[in-house]
Amino acid sequence: MAKIIYVSNRLPVTINRNPESGEYSFTRSIGGLATGLSSVHNEGGSLWVGWSGLHEEDVSGSDAEELKRLLMREESCVPFQLSRKDFEDFYLGFCNEAIWPLFHYFPNRAHYHTDQWEAYFRVNRLFFEELKPYIEPGDTIWVHDYQLMLLPQMIREEFPEALVGFFLHIPFPSYEIMRLMPWREEIMEGLMGSDLLGFHTYDYVRHFISSARRLLGYEFSLGYLTAGQRLVRADVFPMGIDYEKYNQADNTPEVISAHAEVKRELSGKRTILSVDRLDYTKGIPERIKSFALFLDQHPEYHEKVELFLIVAPSRTEVEEYQDLLKEIRELVSATNGRHGSLGWTPIHFFYRSFSFEDLTALYMEADLLLVTALRDGMNLIAKEYLAARRDDTGVLILSETAGAVHELGESLMINPNDLQGIADAIDTGLKMDVEDQKRQNSIMKRRISRYNVRFWARDFVRKLEEVHEYQRSQS
Ligand code: G6P
Repeated sequence: MAKIIYVSNRLPVTINRNPESGEYSFTRSIGGLATGLSSVHNEGGSLWVGWSGLHEEDVSGSDAEELKRLLMREESCVPFQLSRKDFEDFYLGFCNEAIWPLFHYFPNRAHYHTDQWEAYFRVNRLFFEELKPYIEPGDTIWVHDYQLMLLPQMIREEFPEALVGFFLHIPFPSYEIMRLMPWREEIMEGLMGSDLLGFHTYDYVRHFISSARRLLGYEFSLGYLTAGQRLVRADVFPMGIDYEKYNQADNTPEVISAHAEVKRELSGKRTILSVDRLDYTKGIPERIKSFALFLDQHPEYHEKVELFLIVAPSRTEVEEYQDLLKEIRELVSATNGRHGSLGWTPIHFFYRSFSFEDLTALYMEADLLLVTALRDGMNLIAKEYLAARRDDTGVLILSETAGAVHELGESLMINPNDLQGIADAIDTGLKMDVEDQKRQNSIMKRRISRYNVRFWARDFVRKLEEVHEYQRSQS
């Protein structure tokens, strides 16, 4: 039977190896791609090929085989390892020090090294070799995210008839930014190996088409790019969440007990919540500074409001991320030192991941969710928060440079560089009338409950088949 093969750098489970005992343990991977897509993958009928999170040098041949068997059986996943050198040059290097900053509009943070580019090519090929034995006629191959932008073309060369989709989970930048990349043509050609390219927003689609035309000279008409004899489609598919999982969460005993505990802990204070992976794109220092400004300007809120700042560790081997963590810690302690009292800690900082149960309990209790990303492909946290608000109350403050804003236009929108604007939005949010909250949230919730993650995946695959039909009709 034809199947879908997902390919992404990170699998939904990350395997960790204890360096002392050599034992393996499994954790759920974080980030929008892994959390979003895994609820679709769990429904069955698909295979997921990706990196295990381990270094090749740390895993013996027999362990590698055993891990493969185990993950295939339990998760329908095909894991493989990267060498330490590839991890450094491909993952830390080209993916996270060149593409990530550039595509998030931080060109000054991007570094370009030829050896890292070569590693990017080499590892994309490695993914292809790992994937190849599983490809059967009629399969759909759905490649995910910026780590694998050369893979579609590699698949196309050996499997010209394959149905290949690609989805970018981060922003696609404007042509003026994309042209700064030394290997821009190669990346664009790599992507053009797909039949269908999906993006979170219409702006990203426009930017992609503009780069394809200006960098590669491809023509665009009636929604299709013409690459030689091939027709390639680029379209919008705003990723959704597993809405029911969050919306119905308080029916499970685990969430009920987590909720009761959070309620006890919060002891009647107004609560502001923020949840991110550690990343300079998320605007975390700006958020803390705005909250400090808010406290400076609103003494009436002293002792009455608390910010729960949850930051999940991420890419800790990249120096920029280590510097950011240091900056966050300093800002948190400066704010608490300046405003706190014996009975009041304005910011509670957690540098760890939270379980689904605890996170949902916090969503249910927080008066306000603060999303101040400087750039964000989508931001699923904003959607999760709304879904968890069963009674439609709660205030979402959302950055206008997060992709989610296109579907969540009824939120309190802020410019993440405007600290005063964020401080004002906090004040507005805390004072907002409950009926207004309900009115706005119910509109947004209706939207995200319909276009949930399953709908998103089905929509993409259906479109991919349509594109295939269209290509055939034109050839
Ligand atoms: C973002 C990216 C994902 C990535 C995730 C976590 O959501 O779009 O591709 O997996 O961050 O980052 P990591 O580097 O740990 O995979």
